[in-house]
Amino acid sequence: LNNETQQLLKLHDKAAKLYHHILINTPAGQSALNYLRKRGMSDELIDQFGLGYAPDQRILKPFFEQQKIDYQLLRKSGLFSENQQGELRDRFVERVMYPIKNGQGQVIAFSGRLLTNETDLPKYLNSPETPIFNKRRTLFNFDIARKSARKNGKLYLFEGFMDVISAFGAGVTNGIASMGTSFTEEQVAIIGRATSQLDICYDGDEPGQNAIDRAISLVNDHRSKQLQVKVVQLPAGIDPDEYVQKYGAKQFSAYLVNKEETTVEFYLRFLKNGKNLDNQNELMSYLNQALKVIAQVDAPLEEDMYLQQLASEFNLDRQTLRTQINQLRQQLG
Ligand code: CTP
Ligand code: MN
Ligand code: MN
Ligand code: MN
Ligand code: MN
Repeated sequence: LNNETQQLLKLHDKAAKLYHHILINTPAGQSALNYLRKRGMSDELIDQFGLGYAPDQRILKPFFEQQKIDYQLLRKSGLFSENQQGELRDRFVERVMYPIKNGQGQVIAFSGRLLTNETDLPKYLNSPETPIFNKRRTLFNFDIARKSARKNGKLYLFEGFMDVISAFGAGVTNGIASMGTSFTEEQVAIIGRATSQLDICYDGDEPGQNAIDRAISLVNDHRSKQLQVKVVQLPAGIDPDEYVQKYGAKQFSAYLVNKEETTVEFYLRFLKNGKNLDNQNELMSYLNQALKVIAQVDAPLEEDMYLQQLASEFNLDRQTLRTQINQLRQQLG
């Protein structure tokens, strides 16, 4: 590790401790603490994830200036924004602070959440890219989850920080989240080195379903060695965090096990979105797309199962479906 890296890590460690201290021990943190408690966060979870609060007073700059920290280092840290005159100001103000760690568990960045859901400001604000923070290569909670994955044999991919944290509180310690931006091929490679199975459990809304589709494609295009993907689709309009708060830990972990499905099962449902299957043309288009998905399956028994399913669902002849899929295979090469 070069000197600059070490100094930036040190700076983030200090900032994380300060934000946490403010949240836990000072009146300035009270509103944020109330907010987190109202969201069902226990003191243990707050500690485990080192959550903090950046108050309305800009405290980080004076804190570091007092310690005579070099201006160029502060500038590079991403913890401050810079105006035209080159003056630095705390980037995070009045936000709950989620420390983001690298694979070794060192804090490399922050995400800050508003205490409200007002829409004129971004709900989550992330640190910018810095010498120690590359968003495309970072996965929230990866340092903990990858150890847990050695026992569980899989990782869960969630959308948000709160999903990972609530799942953790419910005993699902092998959850990760991509960094707000969409899932990247770099993250796929990192996951592929840590486990052989990834279960995608995004929010149960339309953006969530579309994101599952994109994530599956990404893994299939960039699978490192043998990374198997499965899907757990949540009920409509709910995300993992909300599920835990609403139904509790036990039901959440049972849901993850019971509703786990193959990507083909996901697509057979997903491809119906926006189609009126009572209409002959739209049904044909659905069946063609569905068969294209099934055509990717290598295992004959599994293929047979899906064909059987389609045949009985739409009252079709399984042999015809098989003929059609073989034609498709020839076309696809
Ligand atoms: N996100 C972001 N900026 C936003 C909205 C979302 O960076 N303005 C990222 C965050 O990492 C967030 C994830 O996208 O965790 C998923 O978005 P969303 O489902 O809207 O947020 P939640 O995780 O459900 O956040 P919360 O429960 O705190 O509202
Ligand atoms: Mn503490
Ligand atoms: Mn969402
Ligand atoms: Mn969500
Ligand atoms: Mn949420």
